Amino acid sequence: MRAPHLAAAALLLGAGGAAADGLTAADHKYLRDAFGLTPQSPVIAELTPNEQQALHSAADDLKAYPDSRERQVRRYLSLVYGRECKRWAAAHPGANCSPIADAGAQPGKEISDRICAECHLFGSATAPSFRKMAGERDWNAHKVEHALRHSPDMVPLKLTPDMLEKLAAYINSFKP
Ligand code: HEC
Repeated sequence: MRAPHLAAAALLLGAGGAAADGLTAADHKYLRDAFGLTPQSPVIAELTPNEQQALHSAADDLKAYPDSRERQVRRYLSLVYGRECKRWAAAHPGANCSPIADAGAQPGKEISDRICAECHLFGSATAPSFRKMAGERDWNAHKVEHALRHSPDMVPLKLTPDMLEKLAAYINSFKP
């Protein structure tokens, strides 16, 4: 049996302790709350048992230090996401990363994976994560464009109204 199924099963059963899959119910809750990730998200589902253990350590050991915890987990997720995207792209020419279930958000994800994800998917030291942004307001093309024009730390990007629309839909898909 593959580890992802074990992880999902453990969560469904409400396993609270350090289950065999390495990630506990508390870890999954944190990953969902902070990054919008579920056990089905590819970046979680495809972790090897060792990686699950490592992610568990980052999420659990640093519970008392939210900033360090977020920084560590974010770095770790970015690493795994990059690998997951490479693997997917190699098997699916033309794709950047694996698709998401939400068809309405997929076109925006494709743009983001090329030019936004690096800073915003899990956030960075200075950039808010999409999860955080989605929790703070409802995004639309106008607001995204405004942010792109007026955020001093962001690379200047010129996007078409259609792209802005798709990106807004994608960011909104991270709403809790
Ligand atoms: C090089 C890193 C980087 C890239 C790439 C990047 N951003 Fe940003 N973005 C930032 C940073 C840093 C901030 C926050 C600081 C600021 O306001 O300048 C920000 C702010 C934002 C905000 C405002 C957030 C808020 O809550 O007010 C939006 C919206 C946004 N970015 C969207 C995007 C989109 C869409 C893309 C891709 C087209 C993108 N960004 C690409 C770094 C980046």
